[in-house]
Parts: sequence; C-alpha cells; structure tokens
Amino acid sequence: MSRGESTGRCVVWIGRPSVEEHFGLIRAGWRTLVADPARHEAELPECGDAAIAVVDLRASAQAAVRILTGLREAHPGIAWIGLTGSRTPSGDPCVRRALPHAFEIIEGTSSFGALRQALMRVPGDVDAVQEEDAPSLLTGNSPAIRALSQNIRKFAPVELPLLITGETGTGKEMAARALHQLSPRRAKPFAAINCGAIAANLVQSELFGHERGSFTGATARRIGHFESADGGTVFLDEIGDLPLDAQTNLLRVLQEGTIERIGSCQSIHVDVRVLAATHVDLEKAVAQGRFREDLFYRLNVLRLRMPPLRERTGDIELLAQHFLDAFRESYGTRARAFSSSARKALNAFAWPGNVRELMNRVQRAAVIADDALITPDDLELSMETPCGDRDSLGSARTSAEREAIVDCLRASAFNISECARRLRVSRVTVYRLCKKHQLALDQLR
Ligand SMILES: Nc1ncnc2c1ncn2[C@@H]1O[C@H](COP(=O)(O)OP(=O)(O)OP(=O)(O)O)[C@@H](O)[C@H]1O
Ligand SMILES: [Mg+2]
Repeated sequence: MSRGESTGRCVVWIGRPSVEEHFGLIRAGWRTLVADPARHEAELPECGDAAIAVVDLRASAQAAVRILTGLREAHPGIAWIGLTGSRTPSGDPCVRRALPHAFEIIEGTSSFGALRQALMRVPGDVDAVQEEDAPSLLTGNSPAIRALSQNIRKFAPVELPLLITGETGTGKEMAARALHQLSPRRAKPFAAINCGAIAANLVQSELFGHERGSFTGATARRIGHFESADGGTVFLDEIGDLPLDAQTNLLRVLQEGTIERIGSCQSIHVDVRVLAATHVDLEKAVAQGRFREDLFYRLNVLRLRMPPLRERTGDIELLAQHFLDAFRESYGTRARAFSSSARKALNAFAWPGNVRELMNRVQRAAVIADDALITPDDLELSMETPCGDRDSLGSARTSAEREAIVDCLRASAFNISECARRLRVSRVTVYRLCKKHQLALDQLR
C-alpha cells in the first residue's frame, strides 16, 4: 500500500477495484489506497488522512473480511461500506458476521454514483467529520483548496464572526455551508440571506422581523432570520450591500447578542454565529463611508479567502469531471469524459465566472455533446481564441479591467445598458470588453 504525504480524506479499498472504480474515486477527489486480499493486512495512512474502508465482497470475500477484521481491531471507529454482487457468498459465516456492521451495503457497483454518495454520507464523531467532510464539500485537491479546507476545519468550532471574500462563483456560500456543517451548530438552522437581493427598505424586517402595524403593509408580526435561526448560523451574503441602518443593528447583534423587531423596543436575545461574504473590497467601502468601520472590524475577526479558479488550475479537470458525473447521475447523457483537446481548453481558459461558470459550461456541454467525449466546441471554448493567454490576462492592467467589468456587470444584474451607464461607456464597448475577456454573459448570469 502506498503512502501519501498530504492530509485529507482517503478510501482504503479492501479488494481489487476495477480500473474505472479506482480512477473514478481518484477523479472524485478521494485519495485511494488499495489493500489487495493477496496481502494480509490493510494499513491506514500515517499522514493524518481520515479513512473509510470500502470492502469489496464480490470476490475473495473471506480474505477481504479477514483484512477488515484486522483493520477494525487496530481502528475500532473506522466506518466501512460493503460492496456485494451476485458472486458474494452470502452464506459464508465470516461474511454473514461482518455484514451487519457495515455502514452501508451497496449491491453491485454498476452505479459508481451510489458508492460516491455513500462515502459522503459516512458520519463520525466531530473530529472524524472535521477530517473528512470539509474537503468532500469543496471538491479539489490543489494546495489552495487544501489550505482552505484546513482553515475551514480550524474556524468551524470557533464561535467568532467570519468574513469570506472571493470573486463571483468561487464557492463562498459553499464554504459557509461547510463551516456550519462542521460546527457544533450543525443540527440547528443555517439561514443564508443575500443582502444585495432584498429591497433596502425591507432588509431590517427580513433580518430582525417586525411587529404588526409597525409600518404600512405590516399586517402581522414577522419573525426575522436572526430569530428563526436561533442556535444556528446566519450567512449574510453580499454584506457590502447592507444599508447603513441595518449595519447598525447588525453591530448590536455582534456586540450584545440581541435584536429588536421593527416597531418594538424589547431586546430579544439571539444565539447565532454570523458568517458574512463579499465580492467587493470592504476596506475600500469603509474608506468611502459606505460600510461602518466598527462593523468591518467585528466581522473581520476570521477571514477565508476563496481562491479564483485560475489560481487552482490543478482542480479544473477534477471539478469538470465531478460536475459531469453529478449531471450524469440525474440525466442519462452520452458524454462520459473530456477529449484531450477539451481538457487543454479547460485548463487554458481564464474562468472569470470561476467554479459556477465551469459547472454551467460542463452541464451544457453534457447536454449537447454527440459523443462520449466532450469537445472544446461543446464547451464553447475555442482553442484558437486567446483565452489561454494567461500571461496577458495575468498582467495587472488586463486583470483589473476584467475584474472591473465583472463587478460592474454583477452590480447591474447583468443588464448591459445599466452596466454601460455605470461605466460611462457605450453598450457596444461593454460587449467588446465582454468579448475581449471571454465573458460569456449567459454563463455568468
Ligand atoms: N469546490 C467546489 N466543489 C463543487 N462545487 C463547487 C465548488 N465551489 C463552488 N461550487 C459550485 O459552484 C457554484 C457557485 O458556488 P457559490 O454559490 O458558493 O459561489 P459564490 O462565491 O457564493 O458566488 P457568488 O459570489 O456569485 O454568490 C455552486 O453551484 C456551487 O455548488
Ligand atoms: Mg454567493
């Protein structure tokens, strides 16, 4: 059994996986160690990986159970999943004794998706979950995503506010959900509120609730998100869009742990952890007087920076295959993998819309692909266009221009006229900039 040096999650496969199974697991982000029944024991990695055993009972079932027994003696807490098939000797006393202890039995492994889902479901004590779940929630194996997963694990149990920064589509909300799931609050609500999507005059009521008759239209008492998420986590997305009066009340939640519903002066104690996300530069917003400095410092105790996809190029193929596999589980598409030119195009592209754009392109490609292998055309990634010119995209000026246009498009809800007005350029210029920076509007929306 080979040993890696990294930390993360790991499958110990007791048996002989097929090539598809072995590579399927690796592609899905699982570090996979094979314990061949011809050898007599399975070792767990000595590198801090959390491990789940997959015990292949389809062939050499007795030998596999023997190895499992040794493994469980050394590591009594290890969860294992059994794979059975028509050739599994169900009458074998050794197999019969082992089976009731399996976390899950999967019959036949024609559906690799069923195994992958079972692996994701394996529970454990908090420590084990912290080791195993964070990376599985954030697909990726790059140094950037591993470092991020480590920080998520460290920050999850700490009852402090946290600020998540990163470009659009980098997975800020996903990281917030992972944090909640790894925290002691995971059995309580997770309330995600997009501050930028609520009309400014309704934000306070959404967050903190209101009493009947407190304003025109308030025909009944309303409980706000902070109250209904009591005991859990409130995720404030696009916190930079929060109006100043709501910022003042949020500061009170963070300082005193209390809220007041609109129209009431009664303080209500709430026990919530606040996670906030922004794609804008909050320091700049503070300097411009659009964001309270004291609130910024309260929120910015812990910080997670979501890396843009172009900084984690090692993950692009892994994510693409992950999205394709997930799509195939729901829809029977012909496409199974990516042609080598498609892989090149995926790796060369600059991904202004980050993981979301990758997911959208892969899903659309899966629908339109005529073949088992997805082509660059299916992905609408032309190899001739200069999209792979990372040097030029990497230049500070070009990169700043791209960010500015993406930010403005976002702030304008991808309305070209509005974006042109804000940038004080013509609509034609907006379209030209989109083309220059490979911004496919339908992908970003
Ligand atoms: N590491 C990842 N593994 C799998 N899916 C991911 C990953 N990161 C992001 N995604 C997917 O990409 C999409 C965008 O993620 P998410 O909504 O968390 O991004 P965001 O940073 O909040 O974007 P925005 O700033 O536009 O709100 C989601 O569908 C999410 O499931
Ligand atoms: Mg988001």
